[in-house]
Amino acid sequence: MSVTPRSRTRPAVTRIIAGLMLAALLAAGAGCAAIRDDEGRPLNSLSPKGPSAQEIDDYIVQVFGVAGIIFVLVEGGILFMAWRFRHRKDDDGTMPVQTHGNFGLEIGWTIAPAVILAVLAVGSVRTIWDLEERDADALTVEVIGQQWWWEFRYDLDEDGTPDIITANQMVVPAGRMIDLDLKSNDVIHSFWIPELNGKKDAVPGRTNNWRLEADEPGLYQGTCTEFCGLSHAYMRAEVKALSPADWEQWLEDQQEPAEVPAAGTLAAEGYAEFQTLCASCHQVNGFDPDADPQETDGVPSPDYRAGNVPLAAGNAPNLTHLMSRNRFAGNLFPLYAENGEGELVPNESDLGDWLRNPVQKKPMAPDQRRGMPNLNLTQEQIDALVAYLVTLQ
Ligand code: CUA
Repeated sequence: MSVTPRSRTRPAVTRIIAGLMLAALLAAGAGCAAIRDDEGRPLNSLSPKGPSAQEIDDYIVQVFGVAGIIFVLVEGGILFMAWRFRHRKDDDGTMPVQTHGNFGLEIGWTIAPAVILAVLAVGSVRTIWDLEERDADALTVEVIGQQWWWEFRYDLDEDGTPDIITANQMVVPAGRMIDLDLKSNDVIHSFWIPELNGKKDAVPGRTNNWRLEADEPGLYQGTCTEFCGLSHAYMRAEVKALSPADWEQWLEDQQEPAEVPAAGTLAAEGYAEFQTLCASCHQVNGFDPDADPQETDGVPSPDYRAGNVPLAAGNAPNLTHLMSRNRFAGNLFPLYAENGEGELVPNESDLGDWLRNPVQKKPMAPDQRRGMPNLNLTQEQIDALVAYLVTLQ
């Protein structure tokens, strides 16, 4: 039988196309494998670093397994049928048997997906219930979403009054389950630390149960994932997991009131400015914002020293130990920066810019009591305030 040039080129083209498709599949597969490596990807939900995230990841693998089998069956069927029933030169023009309206088939492909989805739903709901469970040995942290930052409160003696209030960075002991009481002060937010847990809404007027645990000490990044207005994209958070010794030290340090700067220093000037300009929103434990600074001469009220006055949970971050954190303003701007000699020093430049015009640094609506207002400070006031803020270790 003679072979025409045309029928010889066709399989060659088909082989090239098949080769290209295989290469594309391999490239996609390699890309997926690379995603599981979290280098440079702080919000990677495919690299679990704790039991809650691991449970979600295990379930994702199961769902992808089922979806993968269905994909291969459906796409394989399409390719097979396109090839098997392709147009041939010797076609006599008769139509193949038509299946439109076939009762058995239509019932079949309606019920089969419903059953598959029902099975997957069981796994989904079971995973969500697991992640909401409370743990008797867990440490409870109240997590409060605000426009546009996260507050964390620790009631260590469980007397109903928080002993530590911090912002932007939630500090936890590594290897211990943390029960989260998720709340909101204004609109709906959603708390998400991808390497430690899935997303959970923080809803005003409600407390949602959620939990997380970090296997190892380290920093784990997160972000708000429910649109909550102007600066939703700039509402970040960070979990810092500590070794047992570092955790005990942190607890001790955080319960100390702030030091009052020595008289005559620039920081002392900033402290006085802070009391008149900032203390109506920002709490610094160690002095009573209601006390008249003239009367107390800048000395913390004895009640605050003794811990008799509850920490105020306000509409602005508690700044008592500001410089113990990594970032400020919704975990956006670094609190430390490298100086000329490569040492980490307080980032006075960003702190100063923030005080000069916060709305320019981050979109906010202070006229609607959403975010920090521009106080039209003078450069002298800014310098004094920054000098005071960096003392808040
Ligand atoms: Cu808070 Cu989006």
